Amino acid sequence: MANHKTRIAVFCSGSGSNFKTIFHDLKNRHLQAEIVLCLSNRSNCGAMEFAREKGIETVHITEKEYDSFDDFATTMVKCLKDHNIDNILLAGYMRKVPDAVVTAFPDKILNIHPALLPKFGGEGMYGIHVHTAVLNAGETESGATVHFVNEEYDKGRILLQKKVPVLPDDTPETLAARVLECEHILYPEALQKLLDEQNS
Ligand code: GRF
Repeated sequence: MANHKTRIAVFCSGSGSNFKTIFHDLKNRHLQAEIVLCLSNRSNCGAMEFAREKGIETVHITEKEYDSFDDFATTMVKCLKDHNIDNILLAGYMRKVPDAVVTAFPDKILNIHPALLPKFGGEGMYGIHVHTAVLNAGETESGATVHFVNEEYDKGRILLQKKVPVLPDDTPETLAARVLECEHILYPEALQKLLDEQNS
């Protein structure tokens, strides 16, 4: 639709550095897309604070407040539909996205993972565990992957990847910092690619 701005929801649980980078990138480049919702399982994480500061609507939702997982998932889908969300970006969201959300938004949800998938992905592979595993495996390069989200952890189609070197004296922390820097370049590029694909 002409002049329709793509409405994006970000799902976060942490500092939200990827969310902040994408927010600024969308503003600076005047793209036809905007972040209209920040959804989190942690009401006071850095991402939620940033969203409030910028006047972006926030939603705090956790499954423990619902009688069943189905109720939780149904509420999440309704919330996203009520906000006319077109795309969802997972940016450090530390919960599995309910299958009902994946089904309601086919090929519309992206995640960023701090390694070169399909290696070093799957359940339990998050945060510093990923970088420790990369170093233990003796890899000479790592990087970041943006992929579509399906029902399985880190298994959806890969949209874009970017590599960084692993240096001989790396610790999990130094590698994590290098990969995060690379994520901040990769995620805006991947979002652009998704928008281009959707609009072509
Ligand atoms: C990133 O490393 C991302 O790959 C992973 O979670 C981290 C989120 O960092 N999924 P931030 O909250 O965007 O700073």
